[in-house]
Amino acid sequence: MDVIEVRDPADGELDAWHALVSSAHTHDHPDEPPPEPSQTVGLLLGGERRRLWAVPHEDGFGAVASLRLPGDAALRAGEIEIHVHPGLRRRGVGTRLLRSAAGALRADQRATAIAQALAGTPAVPFLESRGFGCVLTTRSLVLRTAETDTAPYAALNPSGYRLIRWTGAVPDRLAADFAKAKRAMADHEEGESAWTPERIRETAEQVAKRGDELYTVAALYGTRLAGFTEIVVPGDASDRAFQYDTAVVPEHRGLRLGLWVKAAMLRWLAEERPEIAEIETDNADDNEHMLAVNEALGFRPLREYREYQATASDLPR
Ligand SMILES: CC(C)(COP(=O)(O)OP(=O)(O)OC[C@H]1O[C@@H](n2cnc3c(N)ncnc32)[C@H](O)[C@@H]1OP(=O)(O)O)[C@@H](O)C(=O)NCCC(=O)NCCS
Repeated sequence: MDVIEVRDPADGELDAWHALVSSAHTHDHPDEPPPEPSQTVGLLLGGERRRLWAVPHEDGFGAVASLRLPGDAALRAGEIEIHVHPGLRRRGVGTRLLRSAAGALRADQRATAIAQALAGTPAVPFLESRGFGCVLTTRSLVLRTAETDTAPYAALNPSGYRLIRWTGAVPDRLAADFAKAKRAMADHEEGESAWTPERIRETAEQVAKRGDELYTVAALYGTRLAGFTEIVVPGDASDRAFQYDTAVVPEHRGLRLGLWVKAAMLRWLAEERPEIAEIETDNADDNEHMLAVNEALGFRPLREYREYQATASDLPR
């Protein structure tokens, strides 16, 4: 089974990619609906630079791999994702694809790669036997919007603070503060300390290009941004939205601003997007404060993910 590089994927290749990812997903997570075709296409054609490989098999693909190459190569890790058809596993196919991705990572002068695995799946022994180490465990949680009661937290309204909200990219006048608040999350996000106004704008543009909508609620103290929370509503008519970042700038912590902005977000979504039945979020296991905020709002555990990282030189050649 040969590995080919897929450049500018044509419709047939996008269909084959999606079919493979869906069959692997159904095998690995029988309780979860498979991704929508538009999600697969968005990931393959979305804004960022990336390289793609596949192993042709029968009329389609037997395995696929992508390497996302976001932003500045000197600062950011490459992001590797590999899927092998359940019937073709343990034959070295995943390793061969990883070798292609690792070669491209080194060619792009990136020092590290990151990858994600669901706890308890073959991805864990695969990554650990091929140069990756676990750097973070995150728990994904889900909130059923019909079951949450935000009223007690909406009333928090700490003195001197007010709420604002917007869709899409952050308004220019708040961009520098927003980057500062994002950098304040660095204690809970490995390698994520490089937030700049440019990178924030780039992220918002990618969400829009995928056809999704980004909602942000922020707390202001005077004219300064003290904290914020972001939700992305997919453009594919599904009823599950995704929590993106929530952060409070260090000097404004301890006032329950995190709970306040998140409760305000839930109220806004209920008015603006009543079709959203569920909100999914990820929390680092060591981020006890955010886990407590989410539990107070009614989020319940769904699954556990592990974030892996490897030094480029430790990956297979
Ligand atoms: C993880 C995955 C890509 C591995 O693909 P694969 O083609 O089976 O991997 P390989 O055959 O190259 O396995 C390499 C090594 O990984 C380890 N490994 C892989 N699957 C394993 C399993 N089920 N149990 C124990 N070890 C395993 C073994 O050490 C194996 O070497 P060995 O077969 O000589 O013992 C595949 O299981 C998959 O598609 N999973 C779903 C998608 C996913 O979670 N991807 C995230 C990773 S980026």
